[in-house]
Amino acid sequence: MKVEMQTKKRILSGVQPTGDLHIGNWLGAINNWVTLQEQYETFLCVVDLHAITTAYDPKELSKNTLSTAALYVACGIDPNECSIFVQSQISAHSELCWILNCMTPINWMERMIQFKEKSIQQGNNVSIGLFDYPILMAADILLYDADFVPVGEDQKQHLELARDIAQQRINAKFSKNKNILKIPQSIIMKNGSKIMSLIDGSKKMSKSDPNEGSRINLLDPPEIITKKIKRAKSDSFNGIEFHNPDRAESRNLLMIYSLLSGKEISQCENEFSNTGWGTFKKLITEQLIESLEPIQEKYKVLINDPYQLNNILQEGKDKAEDLANKTLKRVKSKLGFFEMEK
Ligand code: TYM
Repeated sequence: MKVEMQTKKRILSGVQPTGDLHIGNWLGAINNWVTLQEQYETFLCVVDLHAITTAYDPKELSKNTLSTAALYVACGIDPNECSIFVQSQISAHSELCWILNCMTPINWMERMIQFKEKSIQQGNNVSIGLFDYPILMAADILLYDADFVPVGEDQKQHLELARDIAQQRINAKFSKNKNILKIPQSIIMKNGSKIMSLIDGSKKMSKSDPNEGSRINLLDPPEIITKKIKRAKSDSFNGIEFHNPDRAESRNLLMIYSLLSGKEISQCENEFSNTGWGTFKKLITEQLIESLEPIQEKYKVLINDPYQLNNILQEGKDKAEDLANKTLKRVKSKLGFFEMEK
């Protein structure tokens, strides 16, 4: 058993506990973790320090943190095999973040697309934390010597930044021979890595969209799913298509249907080439309700058992903290920090 653990490559990923998780988070990230967990040693954090980079309600933060962890398990993450933990519980994340802050040129940060997009939404209330978000994310990843980071398409640039910081600003500068930090690679799935808004097929489905109708949340009850799909944007073309560039909404819903039903895109295209929007919307509504029901059932049981959830997070923390502290110690030592004589 021990030998097997050592030879497995490692993955690390996380979701912010900001409001309800939606099917984009699931199909773009969590579902891949579920597939990968057997093959890799898996570390999954609930990134609550990232969740305070925009305005938030302190009464909701810890509730959302617990609920996000419960959703990981409800979606199929096996807590006996994977380490699930809360980012803020391991202070090495903040400490490595500070060190990396001091090593990263500000003009690298000014290129971050997500910061530009999010800061527009925030008006003149943009925090330094929002600007620093990708460096904290780099710290999350690099602390665990992660080989791979399974994420949605929107995180690609942040992953590249983490790689550049590790390689150019730490390894190349502070170690001649052996790498101090492992260079991680992203895993971005071909299908599902960019689920679009239900009301605008050119925009990503997002927790921060003020319009609730733009997304299906994992915990939406059947009547809400029905209402949201009914109101989802459609078009005046015949049939449901995937490859027509003028039909972003049709493409998006067909992708969602394909991922949920397990049918190939081409099979769905054939099946729905003459289907009207009304019929297709009914079918995708049924599919969404059917696919989300087992997650919702499992979630209900877990969220009503805080003792079990606590145990999962405690075990995850113990394992993660050990690893994180080792990496932090290695980095501090190579970067010249004072160390106590033993
Ligand atoms: P968050 O909470 O914004 O997103 C969590 C994951 O969901 C993916 N995602 C999507 N995938 C497909 N379609 C969408 N519409 C969609 N919206 C979101 C995201 O790509 C992500 O994989 N910054 C990270 C959180 C983080 C992290 C980390 C991830 C912090 N530290 C370390 C990996 C490793 C984020 O985007 O959270």
